[in-house]
Amino acid sequence: MDKTIDLEQLKQKAQQEISQAKNSQDIENIRIGLLGRKGALTDILRSLSQLPIDQRKEVGQKANTLRKELEELFDSKIKEIDNLVISEKLVKEKIDISLPSYPFETGHYHPLRQTLDEIAGIFESIGFSKAEGPEIETEWYNFEALNIPKNHPARDVQDTFYMKKPAKNEKRLLRTHTSPVQIHVMEKQKPPLRIIAPGRVFRNEATDASHSAVFYQLEGLAVDEKITFADLKGTLTLFINRFFGKNVGVRFRPSHYQFTEPSADLDIQCTICGGKGCNICKNTGWLEMLGCGMVHPNVLRAVKYDPEKYTGYAFGLGIDRLCMFKYGIDDIRLFYENNLQFLEQF
Ligand code: DAH
Repeated sequence: MDKTIDLEQLKQKAQQEISQAKNSQDIENIRIGLLGRKGALTDILRSLSQLPIDQRKEVGQKANTLRKELEELFDSKIKEIDNLVISEKLVKEKIDISLPSYPFETGHYHPLRQTLDEIAGIFESIGFSKAEGPEIETEWYNFEALNIPKNHPARDVQDTFYMKKPAKNEKRLLRTHTSPVQIHVMEKQKPPLRIIAPGRVFRNEATDASHSAVFYQLEGLAVDEKITFADLKGTLTLFINRFFGKNVGVRFRPSHYQFTEPSADLDIQCTICGGKGCNICKNTGWLEMLGCGMVHPNVLRAVKYDPEKYTGYAFGLGIDRLCMFKYGIDDIRLFYENNLQFLEQF
């Protein structure tokens, strides 16, 4: 039997099998079949000693060369299979980086905050600066210093939330308006001054479409020598026209507030019907926007300003109300219910 021919056949068969191998397990099986303990090539190598001397050397060399070739073939096939696995994986896990991304969900400002910022921005642009005061007040700041005496109906427990425990024998309450900030500012600063004070206020009353126990106001105050009602009218008219973005009809109607004298309410021509009359303006053609007036001398005295030397004007507006008129919202409760369908419209 010619071992050289055996080797040649073995080589061809191995090359064919290796080229058809699909995975590393196939390769291992082929390798065992050839080079394992009972492998075909191992067999030939083992039986070399039984060959005649002259053939032994030639066949031995060829068998060893074949073993080396086969080992190289196994190695390169394994590499090929590994690469195939990786590239299949890459194809499967491919990410298309040219696809547009999902849009980011960004938060946005609450309509009340937007309105507050807008109102404050208008006043800041004409020289007013922002002031703040506490939400928990004493009767002095919320009432007395504002010329609201003991028996005034605004002090009625029905309107005011009182705290259970007084501080240092003083009754404490949740402020019912932002007017007490006027007192805090004037106690700390001397005229001339021009401030606005936006903030949250509280009233102990039943909630409905136009009432909320918690709402927002913005207070304004200007004190200097020779300030007149004309300054008040000019400033507020400018504010209204800027806020509604057009010249809306404005009127000042006599009114009463304890802390101003004279006092007025500012009405604007109904933004919904243009003054013709509709259910929003209750067929009057006018909408009440804010309260205002010249600072009462008693208020100036309470903060030790000389009413003979200084005069001033003040105003207070409801931020919720202005927001409702601007956007045609008919229920104040919508601002406080965290209903995203409503809020996301702004
Ligand atoms: N504090 C008043 C209220 O809550 C609003 C107000 C009216 C404020 C007239 C003022 C003012 O400063 O002059 O109803």
